[in-house]
Amino acid sequence: PTAHAADLVVFGGTGDLSMRKLLPALYHSDRDGRLAPETRIIAMSRGGLDDADFRGKVEADVRPGLHADDAEGWDRFLGRLHHVTADVAGDARTHPGWGRLARMLAGREDVDRIFYLASPPMTFGPFCRAAHAAGLVTPRSRVVLEKPLGRDLEGARGINDEVGAIFEERQIFRIDHYLGKETVQNLLVLRFANAFLEPIWNSLWIDHVQITAAESVGTPGRRGYYDHAGALRDMVQNHLLQLLCLVAMEPPARNDRESIRDEKVKVLQALRPISGTEADRFTVRGQYAAGEVDGRAVPGYLDEPDKTPPTDASRHVETFTAIRAEVKNWRWAGVPFYLRTGKRMPYRRSEIVVQFKDVPHSIFPGGSPNRLVLRLQPSEGIHLHIMAKEPGAGDVVPRPVPLSLSFADTFRARVPEAYERLLTDVLAGNPTLFMRRDEVEAAWTWIDPIIATWESRDALPEPYAAGTSGPAAARELLGRSGRAWHEED
Ligand code: BG6
Repeated sequence: PTAHAADLVVFGGTGDLSMRKLLPALYHSDRDGRLAPETRIIAMSRGGLDDADFRGKVEADVRPGLHADDAEGWDRFLGRLHHVTADVAGDARTHPGWGRLARMLAGREDVDRIFYLASPPMTFGPFCRAAHAAGLVTPRSRVVLEKPLGRDLEGARGINDEVGAIFEERQIFRIDHYLGKETVQNLLVLRFANAFLEPIWNSLWIDHVQITAAESVGTPGRRGYYDHAGALRDMVQNHLLQLLCLVAMEPPARNDRESIRDEKVKVLQALRPISGTEADRFTVRGQYAAGEVDGRAVPGYLDEPDKTPPTDASRHVETFTAIRAEVKNWRWAGVPFYLRTGKRMPYRRSEIVVQFKDVPHSIFPGGSPNRLVLRLQPSEGIHLHIMAKEPGAGDVVPRPVPLSLSFADTFRARVPEAYERLLTDVLAGNPTLFMRRDEVEAAWTWIDPIIATWESRDALPEPYAAGTSGPAAARELLGRSGRAWHEED
Protein backbone atom coordinates (compact mmCIF):
# COMPACT_ATOMS: atom_id res chain seq x y z
CA PRO A 1 0.00 0.00 0.00
CA THR A 2 1.17 3.53 -0.65
CA ALA A 3 2.28 5.21 2.52
CA HIS A 4 0.16 8.09 3.80
CA ALA A 5 1.90 11.40 4.14
CA ALA A 6 2.71 12.02 7.77
CA ASP A 7 4.18 14.52 10.16
CA LEU A 8 6.13 12.45 12.63
CA VAL A 9 6.94 14.44 15.74
CA VAL A 10 9.55 12.67 17.87
CA PHE A 11 9.65 13.95 21.43
CA GLY A 12 13.08 13.10 22.81
CA GLY A 13 14.18 13.33 19.19
CA THR A 14 17.89 13.74 19.86
CA GLY A 15 18.02 11.05 22.56
CA ASP A 16 19.60 7.65 22.48
CA LEU A 17 16.60 5.72 21.15
CA SER A 18 15.95 8.22 18.41
CA MET A 19 19.55 8.37 17.22
CA ARG A 20 20.25 4.63 17.55
CA LYS A 21 16.97 3.08 16.43
CA LEU A 22 14.31 5.44 15.08
CA LEU A 23 16.30 7.55 12.65
CA PRO A 24 18.12 4.54 11.12
CA ALA A 25 14.77 2.74 10.77
CA LEU A 26 13.22 5.79 9.13
CA TYR A 27 16.16 6.12 6.79
CA HIS A 28 15.75 2.49 5.68
CA SER A 29 12.01 2.96 5.26
CA ASP A 30 12.68 6.01 3.10
CA ARG A 31 15.26 4.19 1.02
CA ASP A 32 12.83 1.32 0.44
CA GLY A 33 10.12 3.74 -0.69
CA ARG A 34 7.92 3.36 2.39
CA LEU A 35 7.73 7.07 3.24
CA ALA A 36 5.43 9.32 1.24
CA PRO A 37 7.24 12.24 -0.46
CA GLU A 38 5.63 14.83 1.85
CA THR A 39 6.43 12.99 5.09
CA ARG A 40 8.40 15.06 7.59
CA ILE A 41 10.27 14.05 10.73
CA ILE A 42 10.24 16.72 13.41
CA ALA A 43 12.53 16.06 16.36
CA MET A 44 11.61 17.85 19.57
CA SER A 45 14.12 18.28 22.35
CA ARG A 46 15.45 20.84 24.79
CA GLY A 47 18.65 20.94 22.76
CA GLY A 48 18.33 24.42 21.23
CA LEU A 49 19.16 23.19 17.71
CA ASP A 50 17.84 24.57 14.46
CA ASP A 51 17.09 22.38 11.44
CA ALA A 52 20.61 22.72 10.06
CA ASP A 53 22.21 21.81 13.41
CA PHE A 54 20.02 18.77 13.73
CA ARG A 55 20.75 17.60 10.19
CA GLY A 56 24.46 18.06 10.92
CA LYS A 57 24.13 15.96 14.06
CA VAL A 58 22.34 13.19 12.20
CA GLU A 59 24.94 13.33 9.45
CA ALA A 60 27.73 12.98 12.03
CA ASP A 61 26.14 10.51 14.48
CA VAL A 62 23.71 8.40 12.47
CA ARG A 63 25.00 8.21 8.91
CA PRO A 64 28.28 6.38 9.67
CA GLY A 65 26.37 3.36 10.98
CA LEU A 66 24.13 3.15 7.94
CA HIS A 67 26.37 2.66 4.93
CA ALA A 68 24.24 5.34 3.29
CA ASP A 69 26.29 5.64 0.14
CA ASP A 70 23.42 6.78 -2.06
CA ALA A 71 23.98 10.54 -1.83
CA GLU A 72 20.69 11.50 -3.43
CA GLY A 73 18.68 9.24 -1.11
CA TRP A 74 20.55 10.53 1.92
CA ASP A 75 19.91 14.15 0.96
CA ARG A 76 16.24 13.44 0.48
CA PHE A 77 16.16 11.89 3.96
CA LEU A 78 18.01 14.84 5.51
CA GLY A 79 15.55 17.19 3.82
CA ARG A 80 12.71 15.58 5.79
CA LEU A 81 14.34 16.41 9.14
CA HIS A 82 13.44 19.38 11.31
CA HIS A 83 14.07 20.31 14.90
CA VAL A 84 11.93 22.18 17.39
CA THR A 85 13.23 23.18 20.81
CA ALA A 86 10.55 22.61 23.42
CA ASP A 87 9.84 21.01 26.75
CA VAL A 88 6.81 19.90 28.71
CA ALA A 89 7.83 21.39 32.05
CA GLY A 90 5.79 24.28 33.44
CA ASP A 91 3.08 25.69 31.21
CA ALA A 92 4.24 24.18 27.95
CA ARG A 93 1.95 26.40 25.89
CA THR A 94 4.03 29.45 26.66
CA HIS A 95 7.24 27.87 25.36
CA PRO A 96 7.98 29.39 21.96
CA GLY A 97 8.80 25.93 20.58
CA TRP A 98 5.18 24.82 20.84
CA GLY A 99 4.14 27.88 18.83
CA ARG A 100 6.68 27.00 16.18
CA LEU A 101 5.46 23.42 16.07
CA ALA A 102 1.87 24.63 15.72
CA ARG A 103 2.87 26.84 12.79
CA MET A 104 4.72 23.98 11.15
CA LEU A 105 1.71 21.70 11.45
CA ALA A 106 -0.90 24.33 10.54
CA GLY A 107 -2.78 23.62 7.33
CA ARG A 108 -1.77 19.97 7.37
CA GLU A 109 -4.77 18.62 9.27
CA ASP A 110 -5.41 16.12 6.48
CA VAL A 111 -1.94 14.63 6.94
CA ASP A 112 -1.45 11.84 9.50
CA ARG A 113 0.07 13.31 12.61
CA ILE A 114 2.13 11.06 14.80
CA PHE A 115 3.54 11.96 18.18
CA TYR A 116 6.29 9.52 19.05
CA LEU A 117 7.23 9.80 22.73
CA ALA A 118 10.80 8.55 22.96
CA SER A 119 11.05 10.02 26.44
CA PRO A 120 10.63 8.84 30.06
CA PRO A 121 7.10 7.81 31.06
CA MET A 122 6.58 10.73 33.43
CA THR A 123 6.51 12.99 30.36
CA PHE A 124 3.71 11.08 28.59
CA GLY A 125 0.79 12.74 30.37
CA PRO A 126 2.28 16.27 30.31
CA PHE A 127 3.17 15.91 26.62
CA CYS A 128 -0.33 14.86 25.66
CA ARG A 129 -1.88 17.71 27.64
CA ALA A 130 0.50 20.25 26.09
CA ALA A 131 -0.15 18.97 22.57
CA HIS A 132 -3.87 19.15 23.22
CA ALA A 133 -3.68 22.62 24.74
CA ALA A 134 -1.71 23.81 21.72
CA GLY A 135 -4.56 22.52 19.52
CA LEU A 136 -2.34 19.96 17.80
CA VAL A 137 -4.33 16.79 18.40
CA THR A 138 -6.46 16.07 15.32
CA PRO A 139 -8.68 13.04 14.62
CA ARG A 140 -5.85 11.81 12.36
CA SER A 141 -3.32 11.93 15.20
CA ARG A 142 -1.72 8.96 16.82
CA VAL A 143 0.57 8.73 19.81
CA VAL A 144 3.34 6.18 20.22
CA LEU A 145 4.49 5.30 23.74
CA GLU A 146 7.83 3.72 24.49
CA LYS A 147 8.25 1.38 27.41
CA PRO A 148 8.48 1.32 30.36
CA LEU A 149 4.82 2.01 30.91
CA GLY A 150 5.01 2.64 34.64
CA ARG A 151 6.72 0.61 37.37
CA ASP A 152 3.62 -1.26 38.50
CA LEU A 153 -0.07 -1.68 37.75
CA GLU A 154 -1.04 1.54 39.46
CA GLY A 155 1.59 3.56 37.60
CA ALA A 156 0.61 2.01 34.27
CA ARG A 157 -3.06 2.79 34.91
CA GLY A 158 -2.17 6.37 35.77
CA ILE A 159 -0.27 6.82 32.50
CA ASN A 160 -3.01 5.09 30.51
CA ASP A 161 -5.60 7.38 32.11
CA GLU A 162 -3.60 10.52 31.39
CA VAL A 163 -2.92 9.61 27.77
CA GLY A 164 -6.45 8.23 27.41
CA ALA A 165 -7.90 11.59 28.47
CA ILE A 166 -6.53 13.11 25.25
CA PHE A 167 -6.29 10.23 22.77
CA GLU A 168 -8.75 7.43 22.06
CA GLU A 169 -7.46 3.89 22.52
CA ARG A 170 -7.43 3.37 18.73
CA GLN A 171 -4.96 6.27 18.48
CA ILE A 172 -2.54 4.91 21.12
CA PHE A 173 0.35 2.70 19.99
CA ARG A 174 2.31 1.12 22.86
CA ILE A 175 5.58 -0.23 21.54
CA ASP A 176 7.11 -3.52 22.50
CA HIS A 177 9.94 -3.78 20.04
CA TYR A 178 10.13 -7.58 20.40
CA LEU A 179 6.85 -7.77 18.49
CA GLY A 180 8.62 -6.16 15.52
CA LYS A 181 11.22 -8.92 15.31
CA GLU A 182 10.87 -11.16 12.26
CA THR A 183 10.92 -14.48 14.11
CA VAL A 184 8.26 -13.28 16.49
CA GLN A 185 5.87 -12.53 13.63
CA ASN A 186 6.96 -15.76 12.04
CA LEU A 187 5.78 -17.60 15.11
CA LEU A 188 2.22 -16.68 14.16
CA VAL A 189 2.76 -17.93 10.61
CA LEU A 190 4.43 -21.09 11.84
CA ARG A 191 1.59 -21.85 14.23
CA PHE A 192 -1.36 -20.76 12.15
CA ALA A 193 -0.35 -21.31 8.53
CA ASN A 194 0.82 -24.90 9.00
CA ALA A 195 -1.47 -27.79 9.77
CA PHE A 196 0.90 -30.18 11.45
CA LEU A 197 1.79 -28.25 14.59
CA GLU A 198 -1.55 -27.25 16.01
CA PRO A 199 -2.75 -30.79 16.91
CA ILE A 200 0.34 -31.36 19.06
CA TRP A 201 0.59 -27.83 20.47
CA ASN A 202 -0.73 -28.68 23.93
CA SER A 203 -0.04 -30.37 27.22
CA LEU A 204 -0.49 -33.85 25.76
CA TRP A 205 2.60 -33.47 23.59
CA ILE A 206 4.60 -30.61 25.02
CA ASP A 207 6.62 -31.14 28.18
CA HIS A 208 7.59 -27.52 28.75
CA VAL A 209 8.53 -24.25 27.06
CA GLN A 210 11.64 -22.14 27.66
CA ILE A 211 11.88 -18.49 26.74
CA THR A 212 15.33 -16.96 27.07
CA ALA A 213 16.56 -13.45 26.34
CA ALA A 214 20.24 -13.50 27.24
CA GLU A 215 22.48 -10.51 26.74
CA SER A 216 26.23 -10.26 27.10
CA VAL A 217 26.09 -6.50 27.62
CA GLY A 218 25.99 -5.02 31.10
CA THR A 219 24.40 -1.77 32.18
CA PRO A 220 27.22 0.79 32.20
CA GLY A 221 25.85 4.32 32.38
CA ARG A 222 22.24 3.13 32.89
CA ARG A 223 22.12 2.99 36.69
CA GLY A 224 19.63 5.83 36.97
CA TYR A 225 17.10 3.82 35.01
CA TYR A 226 18.11 0.29 35.83
CA ASP A 227 18.23 0.57 39.64
CA HIS A 228 14.49 1.25 39.56
CA ALA A 229 13.66 -1.21 36.84
CA GLY A 230 15.58 -4.48 37.06
CA ALA A 231 15.26 -7.44 34.73
CA LEU A 232 11.68 -8.27 35.69
CA ARG A 233 10.29 -4.86 34.77
CA ASP A 234 12.76 -4.17 31.96
CA MET A 235 12.37 -7.43 30.04
CA VAL A 236 9.84 -9.87 31.51
CA GLN A 237 6.79 -7.61 31.99
CA ASN A 238 6.89 -6.74 28.31
CA HIS A 239 9.13 -8.69 25.94
CA LEU A 240 9.11 -12.16 27.53
CA LEU A 241 5.43 -12.13 28.40
CA GLN A 242 4.59 -11.07 24.85
CA LEU A 243 6.55 -14.03 23.53
CA LEU A 244 4.79 -16.31 25.99
CA CYS A 245 1.44 -15.00 24.73
CA LEU A 246 2.28 -15.76 21.12
CA VAL A 247 3.35 -19.31 22.00
CA ALA A 248 0.36 -20.00 24.20
CA MET A 249 -2.54 -18.13 22.56
CA GLU A 250 -5.49 -19.84 20.91
CA PRO A 251 -5.80 -19.52 17.13
CA PRO A 252 -7.52 -16.21 16.43
CA ALA A 253 -10.39 -16.24 13.95
CA ARG A 254 -8.89 -13.45 11.87
CA ASN A 255 -5.58 -11.73 11.38
CA ASP A 256 -6.86 -8.34 12.37
CA ARG A 257 -6.04 -5.67 14.87
CA GLU A 258 -8.24 -6.89 17.71
CA SER A 259 -8.48 -10.67 17.25
CA ILE A 260 -4.82 -11.35 17.99
CA ARG A 261 -4.73 -8.97 20.91
CA ASP A 262 -7.94 -10.49 22.29
CA GLU A 263 -6.29 -13.91 22.35
CA LYS A 264 -3.08 -12.61 23.91
CA VAL A 265 -4.86 -10.93 26.75
CA LYS A 266 -6.66 -14.18 27.58
CA VAL A 267 -3.26 -15.85 28.06
CA LEU A 268 -2.11 -13.12 30.43
CA GLN A 269 -5.31 -13.45 32.40
CA ALA A 270 -4.78 -17.22 32.64
CA LEU A 271 -1.28 -16.90 34.14
CA ARG A 272 -1.28 -18.47 37.54
CA PRO A 273 -0.50 -15.76 40.12
CA ILE A 274 2.81 -16.19 41.92
CA SER A 275 3.37 -14.63 45.34
CA GLY A 276 4.69 -15.33 48.83
CA THR A 277 6.39 -18.69 49.30
CA GLU A 278 5.51 -19.66 45.73
CA ALA A 279 7.49 -16.65 44.54
CA ASP A 280 10.40 -17.88 46.66
CA ARG A 281 10.13 -21.27 45.03
CA PHE A 282 9.33 -20.36 41.43
CA THR A 283 11.40 -17.24 40.86
CA VAL A 284 15.13 -16.56 40.92
CA ARG A 285 16.89 -13.20 41.18
CA GLY A 286 20.54 -12.68 40.36
CA GLN A 287 22.97 -9.81 40.09
CA TYR A 288 26.22 -10.00 38.15
CA ALA A 289 29.51 -9.76 39.94
CA ALA A 290 32.86 -9.12 38.26
CA GLY A 291 33.82 -11.68 35.67
CA GLU A 292 34.87 -12.15 32.10
CA VAL A 293 32.85 -11.70 28.92
CA ASP A 294 34.33 -12.44 25.49
CA GLY A 295 37.79 -12.76 27.04
CA ARG A 296 37.57 -9.32 28.63
CA ALA A 297 37.44 -8.63 32.38
CA VAL A 298 34.32 -6.68 33.31
CA PRO A 299 33.18 -5.15 36.60
CA GLY A 300 30.18 -6.26 38.64
CA TYR A 301 26.90 -4.34 38.53
CA LEU A 302 27.75 -2.22 41.56
CA ASP A 303 31.08 -1.18 40.08
CA GLU A 304 29.80 -0.21 36.63
CA PRO A 305 31.03 3.25 35.68
CA ASP A 306 28.21 5.73 36.11
CA LYS A 307 27.61 9.30 37.10
CA THR A 308 25.50 8.23 40.09
CA PRO A 309 27.12 6.08 42.78
CA PRO A 310 25.44 2.80 43.75
CA THR A 311 22.78 3.01 46.46
CA ASP A 312 20.79 0.51 48.46
CA ALA A 313 18.45 0.18 45.46
CA SER A 314 21.46 -0.85 43.37
CA ARG A 315 22.29 -3.65 45.78
CA HIS A 316 18.76 -5.00 45.59
CA VAL A 317 18.14 -4.79 41.88
CA GLU A 318 18.15 -7.97 39.81
CA THR A 319 20.12 -8.10 36.55
CA PHE A 320 18.97 -11.67 36.01
CA THR A 321 15.72 -13.42 36.66
CA ALA A 322 14.27 -16.84 35.96
CA ILE A 323 10.65 -17.75 36.57
CA ARG A 324 8.55 -20.87 36.30
CA ALA A 325 5.21 -19.69 35.00
CA GLU A 326 2.03 -21.62 34.31
CA VAL A 327 -0.89 -20.90 32.03
CA LYS A 328 -3.97 -22.24 33.73
CA ASN A 329 -6.23 -23.30 30.92
CA TRP A 330 -7.31 -26.46 29.14
CA ARG A 331 -4.52 -26.42 26.56
CA TRP A 332 -1.61 -25.79 28.91
CA ALA A 333 -2.54 -27.27 32.29
CA GLY A 334 0.59 -28.61 33.97
CA VAL A 335 3.07 -27.34 31.33
CA PRO A 336 5.75 -25.12 32.86
CA PHE A 337 6.82 -22.04 30.93
CA TYR A 338 10.33 -21.17 32.07
CA LEU A 339 11.31 -17.56 31.48
CA ARG A 340 14.85 -16.32 31.80
CA THR A 341 16.65 -13.09 31.04
CA GLY A 342 19.87 -11.51 32.18
CA LYS A 343 22.66 -9.09 31.52
CA ARG A 344 26.27 -10.16 31.27
CA MET A 345 25.47 -13.70 30.30
CA PRO A 346 28.03 -15.49 28.12
CA TYR A 347 26.24 -14.70 24.85
CA ARG A 348 23.54 -12.61 23.23
CA ARG A 349 20.78 -14.99 22.38
CA SER A 350 17.00 -14.81 22.41
CA GLU A 351 15.03 -17.91 21.72
CA ILE A 352 11.90 -19.89 22.41
CA VAL A 353 12.38 -23.60 23.00
CA VAL A 354 9.39 -25.91 22.80
CA GLN A 355 10.36 -29.19 24.39
CA PHE A 356 8.14 -32.08 23.32
CA LYS A 357 7.55 -35.19 25.40
CA ASP A 358 9.35 -38.41 24.70
CA VAL A 359 7.79 -41.11 22.52
CA PRO A 360 5.32 -43.17 24.55
CA HIS A 361 7.25 -46.39 23.93
CA SER A 362 10.74 -46.59 22.49
CA ILE A 363 11.93 -49.55 20.44
CA PHE A 364 15.46 -48.13 20.05
CA PRO A 365 18.20 -47.61 22.56
CA GLY A 366 18.89 -43.98 23.44
CA GLY A 367 17.02 -41.24 21.70
CA SER A 368 15.83 -37.93 22.98
CA PRO A 369 12.55 -36.08 22.70
CA ASN A 370 11.87 -33.59 19.89
CA ARG A 371 12.56 -29.96 20.42
CA LEU A 372 11.59 -26.91 18.41
CA VAL A 373 13.89 -23.91 18.74
CA LEU A 374 12.75 -20.53 17.47
CA ARG A 375 15.80 -18.32 17.42
CA LEU A 376 15.09 -14.60 17.50
CA GLN A 377 18.67 -13.48 17.59
CA PRO A 378 21.51 -13.33 16.80
CA SER A 379 20.70 -15.29 13.63
CA GLU A 380 16.97 -15.66 13.05
CA GLY A 381 15.91 -19.18 12.36
CA ILE A 382 13.77 -22.17 13.21
CA HIS A 383 15.35 -25.47 14.19
CA LEU A 384 13.37 -28.65 14.71
CA HIS A 385 15.40 -31.35 16.40
CA ILE A 386 14.22 -34.73 15.18
CA MET A 387 15.57 -38.22 15.60
CA ALA A 388 17.22 -39.84 12.60
CA LYS A 389 19.17 -43.00 12.05
CA GLU A 390 22.88 -42.64 12.08
CA PRO A 391 24.11 -44.02 8.72
CA GLY A 392 25.82 -47.41 8.92
CA ALA A 393 25.21 -51.09 8.60
CA GLY A 394 25.50 -51.83 12.31
CA ASP A 395 22.90 -51.42 15.05
CA VAL A 396 20.21 -48.83 14.49
CA VAL A 397 21.19 -45.86 16.59
CA PRO A 398 18.84 -42.88 16.64
CA ARG A 399 20.56 -39.53 16.78
CA PRO A 400 19.06 -36.04 17.19
CA VAL A 401 19.61 -33.90 14.10
CA PRO A 402 18.27 -30.42 13.42
CA LEU A 403 16.00 -29.54 10.52
CA SER A 404 17.12 -25.96 10.22
CA LEU A 405 15.68 -22.92 8.55
CA SER A 406 17.91 -19.89 8.49
CA PHE A 407 16.03 -16.81 7.35
CA ALA A 408 19.16 -15.17 6.01
CA ASP A 409 20.02 -18.17 3.83
CA THR A 410 16.50 -19.02 2.74
CA PHE A 411 15.13 -15.62 1.89
CA ARG A 412 18.33 -13.82 1.00
CA ALA A 413 16.74 -10.55 1.95
CA ARG A 414 17.85 -8.07 4.54
CA VAL A 415 16.04 -8.85 7.80
CA PRO A 416 14.61 -5.49 8.83
CA GLU A 417 15.20 -4.14 12.31
CA ALA A 418 12.20 -4.42 14.62
CA TYR A 419 11.73 -0.65 14.63
CA GLU A 420 11.42 -0.51 10.85
CA ARG A 421 8.50 -2.86 10.91
CA LEU A 422 6.84 -1.10 13.82
CA LEU A 423 7.29 2.39 12.39
CA THR A 424 5.82 1.19 9.10
CA ASP A 425 2.81 -0.09 11.02
CA VAL A 426 2.46 3.17 12.95
CA LEU A 427 2.54 5.11 9.69
CA ALA A 428 -0.05 2.75 8.21
CA GLY A 429 -2.20 3.00 11.35
CA ASN A 430 -2.05 -0.73 12.02
CA PRO A 431 -1.95 -1.45 15.78
CA THR A 432 -1.89 -5.28 15.64
CA LEU A 433 1.71 -5.50 16.86
CA PHE A 434 1.22 -2.92 19.61
CA MET A 435 0.05 -3.55 23.13
CA ARG A 436 -3.46 -2.68 24.05
CA ARG A 437 -4.22 -1.10 27.41
CA ASP A 438 -5.73 -4.28 28.85
CA GLU A 439 -2.66 -6.32 27.84
CA VAL A 440 -0.24 -4.01 29.59
CA GLU A 441 -2.36 -3.94 32.69
CA ALA A 442 -2.87 -7.72 32.73
CA ALA A 443 0.90 -8.17 32.50
CA TRP A 444 1.45 -5.85 35.47
CA THR A 445 -1.26 -7.67 37.42
CA TRP A 446 0.87 -10.81 37.22
CA ILE A 447 4.21 -9.05 37.84
CA ASP A 448 3.17 -6.92 40.85
CA PRO A 449 2.84 -9.75 43.43
CA ILE A 450 6.26 -11.11 42.44
CA ILE A 451 7.82 -7.72 43.03
CA ALA A 452 5.92 -7.31 46.29
CA THR A 453 7.31 -10.61 47.54
CA TRP A 454 10.85 -9.74 46.49
CA GLU A 455 10.61 -6.38 48.22
CA SER A 456 9.38 -8.02 51.43
CA ARG A 457 12.42 -10.31 51.63
CA ASP A 458 15.73 -9.27 53.19
CA ALA A 459 17.83 -11.44 50.92
CA LEU A 460 19.77 -9.75 48.15
CA PRO A 461 19.78 -11.19 44.62
CA GLU A 462 22.13 -14.13 44.28
CA PRO A 463 25.45 -13.08 42.72
CA TYR A 464 26.67 -14.68 39.48
CA ALA A 465 29.99 -14.05 37.80
CA ALA A 466 29.69 -11.95 34.65
CA GLY A 467 30.03 -14.24 31.66
CA THR A 468 28.11 -17.13 33.25
CA SER A 469 24.52 -18.12 32.67
CA GLY A 470 23.08 -16.84 35.95
CA PRO A 471 23.05 -18.06 39.54
CA ALA A 472 22.93 -21.73 40.50
CA ALA A 473 19.30 -21.37 41.59
CA ALA A 474 18.31 -20.84 37.94
CA ARG A 475 19.61 -24.28 37.05
CA GLU A 476 17.94 -25.71 40.13
CA LEU A 477 14.58 -24.24 39.04
CA LEU A 478 14.52 -26.77 36.18
CA GLY A 479 16.88 -29.30 37.67
CA ARG A 480 14.54 -30.28 40.46
CA SER A 481 12.10 -31.68 37.91
CA GLY A 482 14.88 -33.32 35.88
CA ARG A 483 14.94 -30.61 33.21
CA ALA A 484 17.73 -28.35 32.00
CA TRP A 485 18.07 -25.04 30.15
CA HIS A 486 18.80 -25.30 26.48
CA GLU A 487 22.37 -24.06 26.15
CA GLU A 488 23.43 -25.27 22.71
CA ASP A 489 24.21 -23.08 19.82
C1 BG6 B 1 15.12 -3.11 25.97
C2 BG6 B 1 15.67 -3.10 27.36
O1 BG6 B 1 13.71 -3.02 25.99
O2 BG6 B 1 15.49 -4.28 25.30
C3 BG6 B 1 17.17 -3.26 27.34
O3 BG6 B 1 15.33 -1.88 28.02
C4 BG6 B 1 17.57 -4.46 26.52
O4 BG6 B 1 17.67 -3.39 28.67
C5 BG6 B 1 16.89 -4.43 25.15
O5 BG6 B 1 18.97 -4.43 26.36
C6 BG6 B 1 17.15 -5.73 24.41
O6 BG6 B 1 16.67 -5.61 23.10
P1 BG6 B 1 17.25 -6.53 21.94
O7 BG6 B 1 16.41 -6.18 20.75
O8 BG6 B 1 18.68 -6.17 21.80
O9 BG6 B 1 17.04 -7.94 22.41
